[in-house]
Amino acid sequence: MDISTGKTNGILTIEFNRPDKKNAITSEMYQMMADALQEAECDAAVRAIFFAGKPEIFTAGNDLEDFMQNTSKGEISTRPVAQFMANLSTATKPVVAAVAGNAVGIGTTMLMHCDLVYAADNAKFSMPFTQLGLCPEFSSSMLFPQIVGYPRAAEKLLLGEAFSAQEAYDMSLVSKVLPQADLLPYAYAQAAKLVALPPASLRLTKSLMKSAQSAAIASRMQEENKHFGAMLTAPEAREAFMAFFQKRKPDFSQFS
Ligand code: COA
Repeated sequence: MDISTGKTNGILTIEFNRPDKKNAITSEMYQMMADALQEAECDAAVRAIFFAGKPEIFTAGNDLEDFMQNTSKGEISTRPVAQFMANLSTATKPVVAAVAGNAVGIGTTMLMHCDLVYAADNAKFSMPFTQLGLCPEFSSSMLFPQIVGYPRAAEKLLLGEAFSAQEAYDMSLVSKVLPQADLLPYAYAQAAKLVALPPASLRLTKSLMKSAQSAAIASRMQEENKHFGAMLTAPEAREAFMAFFQKRKPDFSQFS
């Protein structure tokens, strides 16, 4: 299973488990996570959700082979990735993420929709959308500048370069940075603390923090989905995907 899920002591754990492909996420994996989140919403036995990857990689982001095979034009609102992100961004239960190693693309985007985000000191974040001929996704074009401020958001989103756990902490993208060996026990213990608290109080607190923005988030997601879907089949992105698999630098010099 490329996504492992397990329910223990009130915590639903969702774990990326495709290490040979650096936990790159396929449509099937998005669908599994979308379904797990939907089920968790209706299951009173689940009181917190916990995302984790592997000690050396959180996720390499969307599977680029999947992107290459996607030749149907149009927006992506009905695809498993959009179902997953919609379920994550509207989850009423608290979501904790433990990030070690690279969190590329959606691996970083999804953190903006989690509640407690813990990073190991080897974590590396990136949203290389412009390097792939794409644009930001799932409301990150709105949330990221809000969280970290425009100048730093512009640097990370326009250049698409990776940044460290410490920089992510300094920008308020993550709640805390821990030595790699401490990450999982610490983050899991935080999730266990949430489980011990009254769920109605947690739900309301989360909803009060998020409700002023929820319509704007949904609307920005729709707008980005439309552009992202169109850009996936454009020649700039095709060149970037081919370059990745051919292990060469992309050449965008022909594009205006
Ligand atoms: N989609 C599909 N396959 C991927 C992948 C992705 N996003 N990321 C890595 N892989 C595959 C590689 O093709 C390689 O497969 P192979 O062994 O069959 O050749 C394997 O995973 C290992 O990847 P590799 O690049 O050799 O690992 P690395 O440790 O040198 O680098 C990353 C790790 C994450 C920095 C690098 O793999 C990377 O940049 N991946 C692409 C990230 C990306 O652009 N994601 C999309 C964002 S929208």
